[in-house]
Amino acid sequence: MSTERVAVVTGAAGGIGSAVAEVLAPRHTALLLLDRDGEALEAAAARFGTRGVRVRTAVCDVADRDAVDREVDRAERELGPVEELAHVAGVLRAGAATGDGDRDWDLSMAVNAGGTRNVCRAVARHMVRRRRGAIVAVSSNAAKLSRTGMAAYAASKAAATRYVLCLGLELAPDGVRCNVVSPGSTDTAMQRDLPGGPGSVVRGDLDAFRLGIPLGRVADPRDVAETVGFLLSDAARHITLTDVLVDGGASLRD
Ligand SMILES: NC(=O)c1ccc[n+]([C@@H]2O[C@H](COP(=O)([O-])OP(=O)(O)OC[C@H]3O[C@@H](n4cnc5c(N)ncnc54)[C@H](O)[C@@H]3O)[C@@H](O)[C@H]2O)c1
Repeated sequence: MSTERVAVVTGAAGGIGSAVAEVLAPRHTALLLLDRDGEALEAAAARFGTRGVRVRTAVCDVADRDAVDREVDRAERELGPVEELAHVAGVLRAGAATGDGDRDWDLSMAVNAGGTRNVCRAVARHMVRRRRGAIVAVSSNAAKLSRTGMAAYAASKAAATRYVLCLGLELAPDGVRCNVVSPGSTDTAMQRDLPGGPGSVVRGDLDAFRLGIPLGRVADPRDVAETVGFLLSDAARHITLTDVLVDGGASLRD
């Protein structure tokens, strides 16, 4: 068996993706960091320069199936067998469910739903051959909750969540585990770009039918990344087909 331990992280230039890469780096010999934002990706990769892990970056749109297949195949050839995938890339476009935001709808579906399928499928095909591997996709608690102004996002994340869990069911006999991590409000550019600010998110907003966060704070990206890291690790070897909420209790789900 190869001694290489390779992980792929998508959305690695972003708040949660770069935190996931930091969590995974110590236990891997190589990381493929993938994002569509080349400049931010290089900045994220530079942080790993001295940590003894080989880092490859790929500027790639996860909605582009051929580009994703190419990058994953290249990583398998040049870095080694990919054992862990953290699929984190995603977009949020706000807009009323009755609105005309067709482009936002199409983008949300192409990136959040289609991108999840493209990336997970590309990696899973290699894992199945080896009968070994773990996949975690970062979705959102919006996949489970109705939110005003977020229909496209919530619908696309619900599709992504269900795809990953169906994939996990098909791949369980092949020893490949697939899980979902569903964050709530997390302190990243995506969250900071939303109107209202963290105060109203934590307190809740009755006019928007939105409850607050029982733990009283917005998540740090590391809070989400540690959960992703655990689910990918051998410590979670008997866990598959789960969807773990990391939202400070905001979904009121048990
Ligand atoms: N921040 C939150 O409050 C929050 C809450 C729930 C879920 N999430 C999810 O967490 C994930 C990470 O988001 P974040 O908060 O770190 O946001 P972010 O905007 O900081 O990071 C997202 C990253 O994904 C990349 N990306 C976007 N579209 C891409 C594409 N088509 N191809 C490749 N890369 C692409 C961006 O360039 C960026 O680096 C997303 O899937 C998001 O939906 C975030």
